[in-house]
Parts: sequence; C-alpha cells; structure tokens
Amino acid sequence: MGREREMRVVRWLWLWLLLTISDAAVTSRMVNRLTASTNFLTTQELWFNQTLDHFSPYDHRQFAQRYYEFLDHFLLPNGPIFLKICGESACNGIVNDYISVLAKKFGAAVVSLEHRYYGKSSPFKYLTTENLKYLSSKQALFDLAVFRQYYQESLNAKLNRSKVENPWFVFGISYPGALSAWFRLKFPHLTCGSLASSAVVLAVYNFTEFDQQIGVSAGPECKAALQDVNQLVEQRLATNGNALKDLFGAAELKIDGDFLYFLADATVIAFQYGNPDTLCFPLTQAKNKGEDLVDAYATYVKEYYLGKFGVSVQTYNQQHLKDTALNGDSSDRLWWFQVCTEVAYFQVAPSNDSIRSSKVDTRYHLDLCKNVFGQGVYPDVDGTNIYYGGTKIAGSKIIFTNGSQDPWRRASKQTSSTDMPSYTVTCHNCGHGTDLRGCPQSPLSPEGDAKNCSSPDAVHKVRQQIIEHIDLWLSQCQAIGRSSM
Ligand SMILES: *[C@@H]1O[C@H](CO)[C@@H](O)[C@H](O)[C@H]1NC(C)=O
Ligand SMILES: *[C@@H]1O[C@H](CO)[C@@H](O)[C@H](O)[C@H]1NC(C)=O
Ligand SMILES: *[C@@H]1O[C@H](CO)[C@@H](O)[C@H](O)[C@H]1NC(C)=O
Ligand SMILES: *[C@@H]1O[C@H](CO)[C@@H](O)[C@H](O)[C@H]1NC(C)=O
Ligand SMILES: *[C@@H]1O[C@H](CO)[C@@H](O)[C@H](O)[C@H]1NC(C)=O
Ligand SMILES: *[C@@H]1O[C@H](CO)[C@@H](O)[C@H](O)[C@H]1NC(C)=O
Repeated sequence: MGREREMRVVRWLWLWLLLTISDAAVTSRMVNRLTASTNFLTTQELWFNQTLDHFSPYDHRQFAQRYYEFLDHFLLPNGPIFLKICGESACNGIVNDYISVLAKKFGAAVVSLEHRYYGKSSPFKYLTTENLKYLSSKQALFDLAVFRQYYQESLNAKLNRSKVENPWFVFGISYPGALSAWFRLKFPHLTCGSLASSAVVLAVYNFTEFDQQIGVSAGPECKAALQDVNQLVEQRLATNGNALKDLFGAAELKIDGDFLYFLADATVIAFQYGNPDTLCFPLTQAKNKGEDLVDAYATYVKEYYLGKFGVSVQTYNQQHLKDTALNGDSSDRLWWFQVCTEVAYFQVAPSNDSIRSSKVDTRYHLDLCKNVFGQGVYPDVDGTNIYYGGTKIAGSKIIFTNGSQDPWRRASKQTSSTDMPSYTVTCHNCGHGTDLRGCPQSPLSPEGDAKNCSSPDAVHKVRQQIIEHIDLWLSQCQAIGRSSM
C-alpha cells in the first residue's frame, strides 16, 4: 500500500512536471483532455528528428517524425514502456484499444511513432518514385530502434539519471504486427518481447489463399451468393459496363481491373473487420427471394462500404494512385509502393472456386505497379522472406495471434512454440486484430471491448495468455536489468 501511494505521488509530480514545461503544452494538453474522443488515449503530437537513410554511410539528411506518449498509468520511474507501432496510414494518436487495459494493468507508459512517409511524417513534399526509395519496412524498423533510444534517453534526462533502461514491449496489428515481430527479431536487445497481432510476416507473391479464406469465412450459402454476384457482374461488365459502374457509384474507375478489385475488397472488409452479417444476410435473403443479386450487392457496397465504413472509390483509381502530391489521401499510393516493392500479398483469384473475378490476377497487379510507379517496379518477395524468415522467423518472445475469420491469417506464422506462442481467436466475427480490438474490428470498440464478439470467452482466454507472457518476459527483462546494476 505504502509503495502504491508513493507511486501515485510520483505520478502526480510527473504530470505536474509535464504540465509546467510550457504554457502552450498546458493549454493543448487540457484541451486535448476535454475534446479527445474515447477513440484515442491521446492525440497530442510530439516530434523528433529522424535519419532519412539508415543504410547510407554519408547521407545525413533528417526529417521530422511524429510521435505520441500517454503517461496516465505510468509507474515512475521504472515502469514498462509499451511501444505501439503505427503502420500504413496516418497515425493520428494512440488508439484506445485493449492496449489501454494492458497499460493500466502493468503501470506502463504507451508511446507510438508514426510510420515514415505516412500522415505528417513524410520526408518529401512530392512522392515521386525516386523520392519513395527510403520507404521500406527495413528503414521503418530502424526508425523504431532510433526512436526507442531517443525516448529512453529523454526520459532518463527528465529523471536526472543516465544509463537506466526501462523494460520495453512492442505491439502491432497487421503490417505493424509484422513490424512488431521483426523488431524483436532484429533488435532483441531493445525490447523484452513483442505482440504480433494478425501479423503478415510472410510476403506472398500470388496470395490466392486470401480469397479461399473468404470462402471459408463466408460459409457455403453466402459464398455461393457471392460467386453468383461475381458471375452476373462479369456478364454485365462485358455488355453494359458504364451502367454497372454507375450502379456502384464507381464511374470514375475506367480500368475494369480497378473496378473488379474494388468490388472484391468490399466483400473482404466484412470478414476482415467483424461484420459478416451486414453482407451475408441481405445477399442470401435476396437470393432466396429470387431478387436481383447485383442490386443487393450494390446496396451493401454503397450503404456500408462507401457509407458507414467510409472508403472512397478513388482508393482504387490508378489515376489517383499516380498523384505524387502529398495530401490527406497519400496512404493509398504509399502502401501500394510497399506492396509493389517488398511484400506483394497480391490478392489474385485462385484458379478454381474463386469468389473474386478471375480478372483480378497477377497481371493486373504487375500492370498496376508498372503504371503507377514505372518500369521495373515489382516486389522482391524472396528477398523480403530471406531477410525476415517469413513463417520460419527465428525470433523469440513473440506472441502471434490470428482471428479465425480474417483472410490475412494465412500470411501469419503457422505453428506455435514455447518461445513464439501463437493463438487463434475463434468466433463468428473474430477478424483482423481481434485480440486487441474486440468485435467488430471496425468501428472501434473502446478498450477493445469483446462483449460484442460472438464468443467473448474466446477473446478473454487468449488475452489471459497474452497477459501471462507479457508478465513473464517483462520480469525476466527486469531481472537482467537489476543484475547488471
Ligand atoms: C530538428 O532539426 C531542426 C532543423 O535542423 C531543428 O531546428 C530542430 O530544433 C530539431 N528538433 C529537435 C526536436 O531536435
Ligand atoms: C541531478 O543529479 C546531480 C547528481 O546527483 C545533482 O548534482 C543535480 O543537482 C541534479 N539535478 C537536478 C535538476 O535534480
Ligand atoms: C503467380 O501466378 C502467375 C499466374 O498464374 C504465374 O505465372 C507465376 O509463376 C506465379 N508466381 C509465383 C511466384 O508463384
Ligand atoms: C475446385 O474446388 C472444389 C471446391 O473447393 C473442389 O471440390 C474441386 O476438387 C476443385 N477442383 C480442382 C480441379 O481443383
Ligand atoms: C494463423 O492462421 C493459420 C491459417 O489458418 C493457422 O494455421 C495458424 O496457426 C494461425 N496462426 C496463428 C498464430 O494463430
Ligand atoms: C455492441 O453492440 C451494440 C448493439 O449493436 C452497440 O450498441 C454497442 O455500441 C456495441 N458495443 C461495442 C463495445 O462495440
């Protein structure tokens, strides 16, 4: 009890210290406190100078990289520091998912670094192919390492101490999930462990299993309806393409492949983010009543995918992807660059029993890479897997998790071991990052609340395992820290 009180006093002193650094900081912090929605733990931007090219011996250029910190639960001075990795979109704050529950439980600080090039962390005003050459997972991992050192040293300076190491733990979902696993793999001395949630650690060239998993997740009835939709769409595209595109509000997609990829993705999102019934109920109902399936699908796409989910059609427009000006929608171009150079995950139609159009093939993806970024841009998948190990990643103290309905799960690690335990969260609406995000995975359930998962218990069980691993690895790390003192 005495120790707990002491911690609380220290925490207040810490807060006071932060609040008094400058008046501006005080004001924005307070405003932030009042207006930040429950979706974020903080949206207060902080900045530091990052090296542009970590692999050049003579290029010393820097760029400003955005980060965040959340210290409400931090047990000073030696509490753990959780590094929540941001990925392929603007990082507008620290998202209030299950990590906030974990931070409270462990007395941890939470810090988060925006991925280079995305959001406000772009080194360049123009995103030409030439300027994108420093955009890679390898550079991003080095950014995280440099940031981790910078933050630890700043903390030590504030606490008037030196050479002290707090125990760190890294977290990420999806591509940041892969970065989380790879960070522990490449910089094991900088983190006590890693949670790699729905981590796409295997770069796949022809990712046909993606579509196959959609079929499994949809179940036979919905899958059949989706395949009917695709057949009808292909017929109408051949005879009256413009009217069909209009029906989906997608007249701007002049390239048929872009349109078909857009329709395929609209299906994916229902399973990936835990809303399968929003898609499958109306479709199977329309089929049973003998109604027009394309109409039913168009209603879903417009009301849900473009409406509630909030995707914009231009995301799929190669004309838009070619735009090199830095603006609010640049992440589409940036992620395609990473896809076209490093990781692929080309979501091509399997040759048999596919849900998406067979025209979404390898050629389509390679043509897109060439059209958008220029001749000679295609993914070096083998190089990526040699560098990280793919599903044979030889790391340690990494927890892998998958959602049972998530089409990405087959690019994740496939087996469990003592040093790299893996768990699949199984339920009807368990998708991408369910362990941290709960259900559905979009829109966000604050604190990753799992009560709307069709089996909250399945989520709780995996979370319990996660807590036990974090607890064990943090304490092992702290024991080493103490013995070296
Ligand atoms: C970053 O670099 C710029 C330009 O060299 C400098 O003005 C600024 O003070 C630096 N910021 C930090 C946080 O070091
Ligand atoms: C920091 O520690 C040194 C050495 O113990 C001490 O001399 C100094 O006054 C301290 N500074 C602050 C700001 O507490
Ligand atoms: C990918 O699929 C295409 C088309 O079927 C095929 O030509 C190519 O060899 C495949 N590539 C790999 C690496 O599997
Ligand atoms: C095609 O898929 C169906 C259903 O998944 C399967 O039963 C059949 O054997 C497959 N045919 C070929 C040629 O792979
Ligand atoms: C991810 O999904 C694959 C394929 O369904 C499964 O074999 C594997 O065990 C899962 N991995 C984890 C870490 O759950
Ligand atoms: C759970 O579902 C109900 C009903 O749809 C909804 O009102 C509520 O916001 C959801 N809760 C969470 C945490 O997602």
